[in-house]
Amino acid sequence: MENNHDSQYSLRKEISEKADIVKIISQYVTLEKKGANYIGLCPFHDDKNPSMSVSPSKHIFKCFSCNAGGDSITFLSKIKNISQLQAMREIAETLGINVPITKKEVEQQKNKKYYQIMADATQFFHFFLKNTEDGKDAISYLQKRKLSNEIIDHFNIGLSPKNNELYDILSNQHHHLPLDMLEVAIIKSGNDYYDTFKNRIMFPLKDLDGNYVGFSGRIYQQSDEAKYINTPDTIIFKKGNILYNYSDSVQAIRNKDCVYLFEGFMDVIASYRAGVTNAVASMGTALTNEQIIAIHRLTNNVIVCYDNDGPGIEATKRAINMLLSHKMNVKTVRIPDGKDPDEYIFKNGEEALNKVLTTQTISAMEYLYQLEKVHLVLTDVNEIESFKNKIFSYLPMFQSNLVVETYIKKMANDIQISYDALISDYKNVVSTKIDYPQEYNNKNNNSYDNNLNNQPVVIKQPKSKKKYLKSERKLIVASYNEQEKCLYIENQLENNFVDKINREILFKIRMYYQKHNQMIDQEFQQALSEDEWRVLREILEDEEIPNGSEIEILINNVKEWPYVKAANQEALSENKTIEGINRLSSYKKAITRIKKGDV
Ligand code: UTP
Ligand code: MN
Repeated sequence: MENNHDSQYSLRKEISEKADIVKIISQYVTLEKKGANYIGLCPFHDDKNPSMSVSPSKHIFKCFSCNAGGDSITFLSKIKNISQLQAMREIAETLGINVPITKKEVEQQKNKKYYQIMADATQFFHFFLKNTEDGKDAISYLQKRKLSNEIIDHFNIGLSPKNNELYDILSNQHHHLPLDMLEVAIIKSGNDYYDTFKNRIMFPLKDLDGNYVGFSGRIYQQSDEAKYINTPDTIIFKKGNILYNYSDSVQAIRNKDCVYLFEGFMDVIASYRAGVTNAVASMGTALTNEQIIAIHRLTNNVIVCYDNDGPGIEATKRAINMLLSHKMNVKTVRIPDGKDPDEYIFKNGEEALNKVLTTQTISAMEYLYQLEKVHLVLTDVNEIESFKNKIFSYLPMFQSNLVVETYIKKMANDIQISYDALISDYKNVVSTKIDYPQEYNNKNNNSYDNNLNNQPVVIKQPKSKKKYLKSERKLIVASYNEQEKCLYIENQLENNFVDKINREILFKIRMYYQKHNQMIDQEFQQALSEDEWRVLREILEDEEIPNGSEIEILINNVKEWPYVKAANQEALSENKTIEGINRLSSYKKAITRIKKGDV
C-alpha cells in the first residue's frame, strides 16, 4: 500500500515535470511570453485582462484573479472536466509513460458484472411496466400521482412482476449467475431462487458514479406490506453512501452552485417536474458524512428541504448542524402547504412548487429562529427564558459574530429586552459553559441519573493534553500522505478535534483530496493560511507516518479528547456537586466505550 502510493506520487511528479505545460495550455488559451513566464486569459473565470500566468520552469499555472492553479494535470482535468487520473493518463500517453491501473479501477472492474445485473434488471422492470397488462394498473397509479411518461422514462421507473420473471430473464437471456444475483440481493434463495421485489413500482438507485446499484420498490395496490422496500446493503450498494439523483444532477448542481437536499426521491421527482434539476435525496436515512462529502465536491451551498413534520424538522436541525460543521452555507425551505414537495406539487401544481423552492429559501438560523419563536409566550418568563436558551444554543454553530449580533438584536426586539442585557447574558453563557461533548449534550440526562450508587468516582488530577495533541498531529501526517487514509480518518473523526488549527488543516487536506488524487505541495499551500502552513511543515518534519493499526488508536484518542477535556474542567471546578460527579463518571464511561471501539 505505502509503496504503491509512493510510486504513484512520484509517477505523478515525473509526468508533471516532463510535461510541456506551455504546450498543453496553449491548446486552450493563447499564451504570450513575458520574461521567464507566459500569460493569458484565464479560462476558469470570465477574464477580461490576462490574469493567468504559466511558469515552464516550475511546471505550474496560476490565476491571480480567481486563484485557480496547479500543474498541467490539474489544468487538463479542470478544463476537460475529467478526473485527475484520466488527465494524468492522457498526458502520460504523449510522453510514453505507462500509468498502472489503480485500486479503484480494479474495484470498478471487479464490480462490473454486478452493475450489469442491476442495469439489466432496471431495463427489464421498465420494459415490464410499459408493455404488459400488469403494467397498465401500475401506470394508472403513477398517472394518478401525476407522473407523466416523460418522467417515467427520465427516472427509469419500472415494475417488478409477481412470479420470478426477473430471475428467469436474468439467467436465461442475460446469462447472469445465481450467485452473482444473490450477491446484489436482486434474488433470494430458499428451496429455489426467488425475486426479491414482487409487484412493486421500482425506482432504480445509482451510486455517485452513475452505476445502477440498488432499488427502492413501492407498493401501488392495497397491501399491508411496508410502503417501500429497499435493496439491503451489498458489495455495491451502501445506502448511506449514495444520494438519489446525484450522478444525473452533477452538471446542474455545478452550474447553479447549489443543491436542494430532500428526504425522499418522490420529492426529487417533484422538483424535477417543477424545473428544479439541482436536487438530490438522502432517502429517508439520516444524512451521513459520506453524503455531505459527495455534495461538497460540487458545491458549498445546500438548501435543506425536508418534510414539514416532526421527524422532518428534527432531521433538518441535525442536517444543519452537520452541514455547518463541514463549513457549508445552509439554507432551508419550509413547504407551506403539505408534508413534502410531492404533496405540494400535487395540490398546487408545478409553477407553484417552483416558486416556493426558488423564492422561499431562508437562512438556516432564520429557520431555527422561526421554529422556536412559534412556541414563545411573552407573558411567561420561563417560556422566554427557555426560548432564549434555545437560540443561545444554536448561535455558536455558525461561528459568526454577524449572525450572533443579528439574532441577539432580533431577539431583544421580540422579547422586549435591551440588546446589552441580552448580549451580556449570551457572553456569560458562552464563556462559562463547560464544553460538553456533543454526544453528551444530545442525550437526556438519564445516563447518569442513578450512577451515584453504582460506583464511587475518584476525582483525579486533570490529564495532560499532550498525548491527544500528538495523536492528532500523527493523523495529519497520515492524511497528508494518502488520499484513502485521509478520507477514512476524516470520516472516523466526525467532528472531534483537539486543536483548532490542526482541525483546520485536517479539514483542508480532506477538501483537497476530494478534488485531487495526489498531494501537490505548492498547490495545497495556496489553500492554507501562513500559520496553518507553518504548523503543517512542523508536523511533517516532527512526526513519523503511523501505520494502519496505529491509526485506529490515534483516532480513538482524538475522539476521547472532548470527554477528557470536559472531565478536566469538572475536576478543576471549585464547588463539586453530585451532578458534577455524576457527569464525570459518565465521561469516563464514554471514554471506556470509545476505547473498546464501541461507538
Ligand atoms: P416518506 O414516507 O416521506 O415517503 O419517506 P414519500 O417520499 O412521501 O413517498 P410517497 O409519497 O408516500 O410515495 C421518505 C423516504 O424514506 C424511505 C424512502 O426512501 C422514502 O423516499 N422510506 C419510507 C423507506 O425506505 N421505507 C418506507 O417504508 C418508507
Ligand atoms: Mn410523499
